[in-house]
Amino acid sequence: MNPQRAANPIRGAKVWSCAAKFIRDPIPVLRSLHQEHGSLVAFPNDPFRQFDPRLYVMAFGPEYNEQILTNTEVFKARGIVPQGPAGSAHQIVRFGLISMNGEQHRRHRSLLMPAFHRSAVDGYRDTMAMLTTHLVDQWRVGETRDISRDMRDLALDVSSMVLFGYSEKESYRQLGRLIERWMATSFSPKIWFFQWDLPGFPFRRLLRLAEELDREVRRMIHQRRKESHDGDDVISMLIRAHDQDNGAMTEDELVGEVSILFTAAHETNTVALTWTLFLLSQHPKILSDLLEELDGELHGDAPRVDQFDRLPLLEWVIKESMRILPPVAWGTRAVDQPTQLGPFELPKGSRVLYSQYITHNLPDIYPNPRRFHPERWSSFAPPPYAYIPFGGGPRLCIGYAFSMTFLRIALPIILQRYNLALAPGTRIDRTYQVTIAPKYGMPMVVQAKGTRSKPIRPEGTIHDMVALDS
Ligand code: HEM
Repeated sequence: MNPQRAANPIRGAKVWSCAAKFIRDPIPVLRSLHQEHGSLVAFPNDPFRQFDPRLYVMAFGPEYNEQILTNTEVFKARGIVPQGPAGSAHQIVRFGLISMNGEQHRRHRSLLMPAFHRSAVDGYRDTMAMLTTHLVDQWRVGETRDISRDMRDLALDVSSMVLFGYSEKESYRQLGRLIERWMATSFSPKIWFFQWDLPGFPFRRLLRLAEELDREVRRMIHQRRKESHDGDDVISMLIRAHDQDNGAMTEDELVGEVSILFTAAHETNTVALTWTLFLLSQHPKILSDLLEELDGELHGDAPRVDQFDRLPLLEWVIKESMRILPPVAWGTRAVDQPTQLGPFELPKGSRVLYSQYITHNLPDIYPNPRRFHPERWSSFAPPPYAYIPFGGGPRLCIGYAFSMTFLRIALPIILQRYNLALAPGTRIDRTYQVTIAPKYGMPMVVQAKGTRSKPIRPEGTIHDMVALDS
């Protein structure tokens, strides 16, 4: 990289062309900016205002990840969806742990933490196993299923029952669909450019969806309050924090926290499971080695928590899947006080982006990065902040232990029951709304366990992320 070039922000038409391409498909843009400019790329924060000194910097690699993720006084979280007008329902439902900073962040994190500690998560094992078994019980050999839809339902069932204490499937499945629509609208490019609450504009649709979501979450909270709230699920804990110690959490904060946790929990787990099943369908030798490990230790049963350590290949498969296809591909922060990042002086109000996707593809750290190679983890520990599917530092994903446990339980149950083969003629392009997801779903054929055939290769942009032999 030429340091002089890196110290000058990109200006002119290239800013617009990058922005337009980024909105359509961010992955190739991140990749080509990294290839062309190295570990730091800067843009003017506001290309319309010529004398605005603020910058938008994309910073790639473990050292910058560490700086951005650990220095929480300078680099502040901003949340994952646009802000919305002051006092709107959208502002309430988008505001949870993920967008809080400072004392409020520390307070909410410690309120939520008991439900996400390893000791609590171990206790979720039976429900996770029961719900996964229930799902595969409904599958039939020979049928083609959209596995991403199945994984979405499973992830929603697990987080709703385990974390939020729901028992009625229909009510939270409706909430799940509503959240999906709200997120999809939040990520529509038109929303970023035209934030007008006028008839026919998607921004108005977003605000109405947020109002619906706000109403629905409040209704559920009131219902729970009426029934009982002495459980140890997240909603009961938060209601207690609100009711018993009024300073701990306002009613609006309670609504925001529940909405954001619901969103964060099911999108990410859905894609982690879906991509892992896809990758295994493309690598029969790895799949058969994994099945040998699972059958040898579990004999068809769901794993117990004390068996996790005896399933090393499963662990590497999960790790490698989230390396090569990280559910969350990048995160952003707002600069809250003047700081220096590499050669750049960043005034307050600048923005920075760090990227899981670029970091996990650095060939110096991960040789042959586009190859799905779980064995690489057998004798390798990455440098600090080089493997960050769950972020890192004081804001490390609160659902980390929960998700790892869920994946370690769900995958063996599914794999020991059926073989899943990609449906012929499938196209896999990615779409990005908080997570990297398969745009048209993941159609897979349910086959009897042990069925061996040449993997069906997909068409589509997946090939520029994962090397698949023809
Ligand atoms: C495979 C599953 C998951 C992945 C890959 C994932 C990824 C991430 C990442 C990358 C961050 C950091 C974002 C940033 O700092 O820029 C994060 C934060 C967060 N995640 Fe997850 N997540 C997963 C599951 C979950 C689950 C199950 C929950 C909750 C039930 C959850 C709730 C959160 C919350 C609340 C934060 C914000 C933490 C804070 O700022 O203190 N996530 N997650």
